[in-house]
Amino acid sequence: MKLVRLIANLGYGSRKQVSAMFREGRITDADGEVLYADDKAEHAAIRIDGEPLDPPAGLTLMLHKPLGTTCSTKDPGRIVYDLLPPRFRLRAPLLSTVGRLDRDTSGLLLMTDDGQLLHRVVSPKSQLHKVYEATMAEDLRGDEAGIFASGTLMLESETTPLAPAALEVVDARHARLTLSEGRYHQARRMFAAVGNHVQALHRSRIGGLGLGELAAGEWRVLGEDDLARLFSC
Ligand code: URA
Repeated sequence: MKLVRLIANLGYGSRKQVSAMFREGRITDADGEVLYADDKAEHAAIRIDGEPLDPPAGLTLMLHKPLGTTCSTKDPGRIVYDLLPPRFRLRAPLLSTVGRLDRDTSGLLLMTDDGQLLHRVVSPKSQLHKVYEATMAEDLRGDEAGIFASGTLMLESETTPLAPAALEVVDARHARLTLSEGRYHQARRMFAAVGNHVQALHRSRIGGLGLGELAAGEWRVLGEDDLARLFSC
């Protein structure tokens, strides 16, 4: 791929702007030698203003989504892309969220430009478990785990029952819900179906991957080992 296109695709600017960066001598190799637009160079050897390039296409990252942010790019309020370097929104291929978390849900959100990986995570066929920590407005009744595990629970306005889900009661107002599907507002609607209301919802795991030390608003690029862990259970 031509260097101008490679760098433009990473969101550093339009092809015209990146061409100007070459002319200004801002693009160099690792030893500081100025590169020209028609030079050949490996991604890892390129520097812009002395800094290594952002990761190449095939990027997957995890973000600790804070409350109050939305996964949409069109929302006028705070969006998850605001937490990343601005050029990440301009990348080609696009960096998309892997499924969505509601504005009022915090926790583990994956973002990727890898369509196959996205499909593998969201596809009901892959049965990838997502774990949610829920804080309830009312005390749990005690029969919720059985209802959620039954495989017969039907949510309002849906035509097929939910797949069995596991509920671990932590205390009267706190529970850990493990889902293998991702229907619209699923966790909140499940608790509504058993007469309760979710006050706070946090996704703590997807497959074998947890947030680790990542604080709300922080993100990190995932490596091969993280992806292996993601699909490990
Ligand atoms: N279930 C919900 O209700 N909301 C989310 O954000 C995720 C799962």
